[in-house]
Amino acid sequence: MKRVLTGIKPSGEIQLGNYLGMIKEIIDMQNKYEVLLMIADLHAQTVPYNPKRLKILTYDLAKSLIALGINPKKTILFKQSDVPAHLYLSWVLTCISPLGDLMRMHEFKEQSERYKKEGVGAGILLYPVLMAADILIYNADIVPVGEDQRQHLELTRELARRFNARFGKFFKIPEIYIQKETAKIMSLNDPNKKMSKSIPEGCLEIFDSEKNIKEKILKAVTDSGNEVKYDPINKPAISNLMTIYKYLTKKSYSEIEEEFKGKGYYEFKLRIIEAFFDYFKEARNIKKQIKNKDIEKILKDGANKANKIANKNLNIILKKVGLR
Ligand code: TYM
Repeated sequence: MKRVLTGIKPSGEIQLGNYLGMIKEIIDMQNKYEVLLMIADLHAQTVPYNPKRLKILTYDLAKSLIALGINPKKTILFKQSDVPAHLYLSWVLTCISPLGDLMRMHEFKEQSERYKKEGVGAGILLYPVLMAADILIYNADIVPVGEDQRQHLELTRELARRFNARFGKFFKIPEIYIQKETAKIMSLNDPNKKMSKSIPEGCLEIFDSEKNIKEKILKAVTDSGNEVKYDPINKPAISNLMTIYKYLTKKSYSEIEEEFKGKGYYEFKLRIIEAFFDYFKEARNIKKQIKNKDIEKILKDGANKANKIANKNLNIILKKVGLR
């Protein structure tokens, strides 16, 4: 059976981009493949963070994932920091990572600019190497992610090839799985920027209060004219809202255009709000019933399973590189 691995950082609540870009794919894949879903708490440390909040956010994220449909009986849900083999392999890969490649990563450039004032640590530079270790320690076949992670995964593939050439073949070259249409959900207040926790006004958090969600959708920027028409070049804001609505309602673009013929943007926004709450109603209720002690057990079980696979591979890797 093919093995899938992906991760999500506990640096804030789950937003719609995470869900449409990655989580919904994993929910499907857990029925066909062996899936490992990792809460990337070590990656959350690469920028300034609050240690007390990190633990709270980690548990909260696990609850959200389960409420949305990640089934811990099918998916191995675990915390990255519970599997030390990631860090061990990360060091091995660091030593074969070209410094120039790391410095060219978009994410590195963006984040080091963003946190210039606070001072940036080397973790931001080594971020993609740890990602490569997360994937390669399990010899994963498929890695589902949103478009923003593509460059990191290309580096992962390159590091796997380098390792194999230098120390003898061991790693599979993982497939980058990106769903074209939902790979980059854009910010509600700027259709040129991706939806992300770093622009809170344009970011729809799935478990946020009803009031905030309604407000953000009503304030979403629109394009000139008043026709609901799918045209990403000339109507990027409306097209982004249409993509969101399409996945919430399972309608096609032409059905949506038909539905809002002669109705205008305001009516469209009201329907998006309704569709959002219809779609996520169950998850929003389920989340409230999940307890911290349930999560503790799920993450512990997940860590046991993940450690078993990772440690077996680490033993082989350490022999190959001359450390055993
Ligand atoms: P993170 O936590 O930023 O995002 C989790 C997933 O959500 C996707 N995503 C989006 N997809 C579509 N539209 C958007 N606006 C949007 N915003 C986020 C991301 O592409 C990602 O798939 N570095 C990773 C976590 C990670 C990881 C890994 C992933 C650590 N190790 C190994 C894969 C394999 C991250 O920060 O994701």
